[in-house]
Amino acid sequence: MTEKQPANHDLATYSEPVRRSDGYGPKTDKLFQFLAGRVIGQERAVRRIANGFALHHAGIRDMRRPIHVAIFSGPTGVGKTMMAGEVGKYLIADQLRPPISTIDCQMFSQDHQLSQLIGSPPGYVGYKEPPLLSQLKIDGPHFWVKYAEYIKANPNLKVPEDRTQYTAFMTQMYKQLQPYNSVILFDEVEKAHPRVHKALLGIIDKGEAIMADGKRSDFTQSVIILTCNIGGRHASDMLAGRSKQIGLQPAVSGSQSAEAIDQAIYQDTLDMIQKFFPPEFIGRLRDQIVVFRSLSRESCATVLDNMLAEVQQRVNAMPPDLEGAPEPPPITLAFTPEFKEMVLDQGVSREWGLRKLEQAVKQRVVLELANAMECQEVRPGDEVLFAVKNGQVALYRKPRARKQVTVSPTNGDSDDLEKLLDSLDFSPPDDKDDS
Ligand SMILES: Nc1ncnc2c1ncn2[C@@H]1O[C@H](COP(=O)(O)OP(=O)(O)OP(=O)(O)O)[C@@H](O)[C@H]1O
Ligand SMILES: [Mg+2]
Repeated sequence: MTEKQPANHDLATYSEPVRRSDGYGPKTDKLFQFLAGRVIGQERAVRRIANGFALHHAGIRDMRRPIHVAIFSGPTGVGKTMMAGEVGKYLIADQLRPPISTIDCQMFSQDHQLSQLIGSPPGYVGYKEPPLLSQLKIDGPHFWVKYAEYIKANPNLKVPEDRTQYTAFMTQMYKQLQPYNSVILFDEVEKAHPRVHKALLGIIDKGEAIMADGKRSDFTQSVIILTCNIGGRHASDMLAGRSKQIGLQPAVSGSQSAEAIDQAIYQDTLDMIQKFFPPEFIGRLRDQIVVFRSLSRESCATVLDNMLAEVQQRVNAMPPDLEGAPEPPPITLAFTPEFKEMVLDQGVSREWGLRKLEQAVKQRVVLELANAMECQEVRPGDEVLFAVKNGQVALYRKPRARKQVTVSPTNGDSDDLEKLLDSLDFSPPDDKDDS
């Protein structure tokens, strides 16, 4: 048997096998776990996004374009805007600026509204604020924070007073203190004016937007997310035909109908792109469409559990009444399955998907608890159960343990006895009535 060797590659010299991980590399996996732990039931979407970041994490992405571009589509209230926010939180772990800039495209459907986005040409009376797509708006606050830190660390640095030199100095600073990151969400992109679509093309293709005054904003360190609701509406109609609740998977559906809905959403989104963007971009954008799935009741229940766990965390973080006083013992919350079903029925709806779940948790759990705490019916250390009685929320408490005092045998020393008496709380009952 004759072995064919590649002409110029002596295989013997490539002796070390290159191992690859089964899933993602460590950075991409961290992002995947972060998103999947927060945005529930959207594993396919999370996977698509993580894939999009893999090149960036390996350091071999196209540096002339944004870090990542994605188009989110799907039914209402299933986590599209939330996902964009979570990507922002992951990338921008800094408390000083919002993790994401949202551009609500329906606010930019008319020609005269564009000056807010890209400014006005010189000579025109413009909008006073810097335009939303200007460099200053994209990463402005972040830059100034870095700049302040830099100046503090370099006290001998002379900032030029001459205007021209100052501009050159600041431009240099800007280059030096990069890279920054930003996540920009264009919500309901189908509603934007064609000039916004044109600006978007520049951002997606060249990683830049040209403002009306000719200045250039750099988006090569940005993540661009577009949401498109056209497909979502179609999906909602389809779901409405089969299910009582939009945003939930149709109760009787097999996987086929879920696939059919996904396909319809994908096709609608593609049609939208074809309508608004020139043909040369269709291929590029087609690959970026991420279709979000309608959520199963099980996933909704997991979201609710996460929200309830957050309430518990908030209760645990309750500060003591007085500064310096010892931490109060925690209040422990528990919920019956009927109670959770009731909150789910209220929070997940045909019209809003899961959008009203947070509100339902606030009404049924947080406010009820706050009321009981204010009335001293629930106090630190209590264990409280949320249940349903006659269709209404009912709270039950475990009996409070009486304070057990263990008296250790003393050797008859009167000092010991005094210490023991001091440690016991013999404060008289409220003596207001006596006065
Ligand atoms: N998959 C999910 N995982 C966890 N929470 C979710 C999920 N989907 C929705 N929620 C909850 O519902 C709220 C609303 O969801 P979101 O704003 O992301 O909906 P959307 O998909 O953007 O809807 P729309 O198309 O109407 O804009 C979120 O803030 C979150 O509390
Ligand atoms: Mg949204």
